Amino acid sequence: MSQRRIVLTGADGTVGSGVQTRLSASGWTVTTIGHRAGLADLLADFRSEDSLRSAMSAVGGALDGMVFAHGMLEPGPVDRVTPAAWRQMMAVNLDSIYTMIHYALPQLRPGASIVVVSSTAAFDHSPVGGPHYTAGKWALNGLVRHLAFDLGPRGIRINSVCPGTVEGPMARALLSEADYMESLKGIPLGRAAEASEIAEVVAFLLDAKSGYVTGANLPVSGGYR
Ligand SMILES: NC(=O)c1ccc[n+]([C@@H]2O[C@H](COP(=O)([O-])OP(=O)(O)OC[C@H]3O[C@@H](n4cnc5c(N)ncnc54)[C@H](OP(=O)(O)O)[C@@H]3O)[C@@H](O)[C@H]2O)c1
Repeated sequence: MSQRRIVLTGADGTVGSGVQTRLSASGWTVTTIGHRAGLADLLADFRSEDSLRSAMSAVGGALDGMVFAHGMLEPGPVDRVTPAAWRQMMAVNLDSIYTMIHYALPQLRPGASIVVVSSTAAFDHSPVGGPHYTAGKWALNGLVRHLAFDLGPRGIRINSVCPGTVEGPMARALLSEADYMESLKGIPLGRAAEASEIAEVVAFLLDAKSGYVTGANLPVSGGYR
């Protein structure tokens, strides 16, 4: 099989590094886009359309997939989330993904697969993140549903994985140790995911073996919704 090329964001994060390890081990050529110099192949300001467009054009050549594993988390409640904070969250967690897909379209080969890392917040609400986090994740799942229709005729698939809790700094950032341990009791499997368990599902959704799966927002959450 010829080299399969993919663009990955969030590669220095918990989920993204798990995805990079898993895909590299399977022979994917992974080009990373990040917002910190030295930590990614291509640098971009994720709040800037121009910057993301430049990064996508610098990727060059045909692509077989995209995985969006970046994201920020901030707490609520509504009276503490300013409209400016709302816009910042939407820019990073939602708008950047639409922008990168939009500018990648000429590069995506028929058969390509896009995977968005969303959240179980998109099935109800985030118990730790604020309203802007929840709303952004709902919008991502809606985007997946819509783009399945737009991209299906081109032979391009798009799905999301929706983790509940993944062991790592984001999951613990806004909770005390005691509250974190308590929150795990609400998960049917009684524990957080390892990043490798999310990465395994991402790898499946990128592979041709999942060739009839598109428009799915798939919980990978130990049963938590
Ligand atoms: N962890 C969980 O329990 C959990 C649960 C449900 C959903 N998710 C989702 O999974 C995805 C990955 O989360 P994670 O657990 O891997 O979190 P993480 O370890 O905090 O990683 C987040 C990634 O996003 C990047 N990022 C943050 N702000 C950014 C910005 N302004 N511009 C560009 N990149 C930015 C980070 O880069 P730097 O580190 O360089 O800033 C990092 O690579 C997120 O979309 C998150 O909402 C996570």
